[in-house]
Amino acid sequence: MKQLNVGVIGTGWCGGIRAIACAKSGHVDQLHIAETNLERLSEMESLVTPTSATTDWLEIVANPEIDAVMISATPETLHYPMAKAALESGKHVLLEKPISITLDEADELIELAESADLKFTIGYSQRFNNKQSLIKRSIADGTLGDPVSVLVSRHISRSLGAKIGNRIKLSPAAMEATHDIDFALWCLEPRRPVRVYSQSAYGVRKETVGLADTQMIVITMDDGVVVTVGAGMNLPPIYKNAATTWIEFIGTEGAVFVDDSHKDILVQTMERGVEFPLSTMPGEYVGEMYAGPMERETTHFVEAVLFDRPVMVQPRLARLTMEVYLAADLSAESNQVVELPLDRADVERLLAAATG
Ligand SMILES: NC(=O)c1ccc[n+]([C@@H]2O[C@H](COP(=O)([O-])OP(=O)(O)OC[C@H]3O[C@@H](n4cnc5c(N)ncnc54)[C@H](O)[C@@H]3O)[C@@H](O)[C@H]2O)c1
Repeated sequence: MKQLNVGVIGTGWCGGIRAIACAKSGHVDQLHIAETNLERLSEMESLVTPTSATTDWLEIVANPEIDAVMISATPETLHYPMAKAALESGKHVLLEKPISITLDEADELIELAESADLKFTIGYSQRFNNKQSLIKRSIADGTLGDPVSVLVSRHISRSLGAKIGNRIKLSPAAMEATHDIDFALWCLEPRRPVRVYSQSAYGVRKETVGLADTQMIVITMDDGVVVTVGAGMNLPPIYKNAATTWIEFIGTEGAVFVDDSHKDILVQTMERGVEFPLSTMPGEYVGEMYAGPMERETTHFVEAVLFDRPVMVQPRLARLTMEVYLAADLSAESNQVVELPLDRADVERLLAAATG
């Protein structure tokens, strides 16, 4: 049986899930991991017994036996140099979102992958969320008729918001709404976004990380469909890394409402009171079972490489998603409507401020 040799760079929260998914997959032979946190490296070694474990990610890129690399390291400024090096070494790449920090970097990575005929995909895990997949099907099979409007409200816990905000000054649009922008653009293809308006609201995160608590974004598509995404990062700690989401997709012939607020499972204990478990965006292992989208996303990539199938998340759409969230940030900063495609000088000024 054909099998793949995989390297995972950065085995924190998401990279840890990806490495365990690879270790469990019958399609993966060798598993190599790179992680700079020694404690986490040793923990992962005992969890997945990898073929090799290193603190130097360049060893993964240089290893000729490795076919595919999953890049889950933070901060997000590492995504571009790591993906570039992996693609230049002829490896297929699954890269966590965001694809890069700048549009030029994204263009370069896409060009590298296409010219070398390598699979390149971005970790937009919500495409593999089983509840959201029903929306995609309802549009594709005509159940909803012509799409009219989309509304998504997504909030994560403030502890997770602080983890993100302490490592990189990217907005809720770039780090959270990005999942919903990607999903909406994918469902609405071949429509293209033409106009974006956004406002940021500041609360508890202003003092701590200097970023907005919530960002509201309105995107107009070229046929007039309107997508509204609200993304917040300041929920009180009901559960570590919790996310709660409500989605409405409205068409001329029907509507789909998705409640992904995770209130369907409740655990009460004397020690911690009421909790809503299994409420993270990537999901988690529950014994041998996986509850959530990230394991399936990981094995989808492995199978795409092994059997030469298309990846579900095409990097050109991830690049368009990036253009939309950059437009949202420009709009929130200027209080103006921003037309697409973007003015590159405006984008460079915005990114210089964000990455400091
Ligand atoms: N798809 C999703 O649902 C989802 C959810 C959360 C995060 N993410 C994305 O996944 C990425 C990872 O997020 P996370 O929460 O797992 O982060 P994390 O901080 O938990 O893990 C990152 C790991 O990378 C390691 N690292 C840092 N520099 C390294 C280097 N040079 N070489 C090797 N390892 C290195 C860190 O020690 C850490 O363990 C982020 O870019 C984020 O945007 C996606």
